[in-house]
Amino acid sequence: MLDKQPHEASSKKTNSKNLPPAIQVESLSKSFGEQTVLKGISLEITRGETLAVLGRSGTGKSVLLKLIIGLHKPDSGSIRVNGEEVTNLPPKELNEVRKKVGFLFQQAALYDSLTVEENVAFPLRRHSRMSDDERNKRVHELLASVGMDQDSHKLPAQLSGGMQKRVGLARALALEPDILLFDEPLRRKPTT
Ligand SMILES: Nc1ncnc2c1ncn2[C@@H]1O[C@H](COP(=O)(O)OP(=O)(O)OP(=O)(O)O)[C@@H](O)[C@H]1O
Ligand SMILES: [Mg+2]
Repeated sequence: MLDKQPHEASSKKTNSKNLPPAIQVESLSKSFGEQTVLKGISLEITRGETLAVLGRSGTGKSVLLKLIIGLHKPDSGSIRVNGEEVTNLPPKELNEVRKKVGFLFQQAALYDSLTVEENVAFPLRRHSRMSDDERNKRVHELLASVGMDQDSHKLPAQLSGGMQKRVGLARALALEPDILLFDEPLRRKPTT
């Protein structure tokens, strides 16, 4: 269970333009049935800042990230993204907020039946008005930036875990989000 306030030190920071923090979490709690996973979590991330949340397996890191993008609803507490309270937003508005937040899932979460390039094109098809040519160009730039351009016609099942993660990263970057959330970008198998 995560019950610390890992980021108190930076909560006083403001940036030059006095914009609201990118992410502001206050007194966030979440239980699944009898199990309390998050208890009174508060943290704040300003623009341009990187925050890593560390914790043992099963302590609630993924749940925290899923709450921030609205995949779970908190039992109590507040989550603001770019100053906007997201805990009770209707689906349409939540969708707008999500466009600004790239999310790399712990298991990459690619669409199994879509090729690598179709996976990266997906958010662009859904949320942008690019022409087919523009989209194609952007997809291949994104794939090149993660070293996956050679594998653009493969299906996720034909990739290694690390390759899937890189495609997930290209997809998370597709809409040039203000905020990027990574769930275990550098996971390695335990050595002990
Ligand atoms: N949808 C869910 N329903 C019920 N319990 C859940 C659900 N999602 C997560 N949990 C529970 O919440 C706890 C925290 O899970 P979470 O996935 O956040 O752990 P984690 O810190 O990301 O672990 P890891 O380092 O292994 O990825 C676990 O006990 C898990 O079983
Ligand atoms: Mg996790």
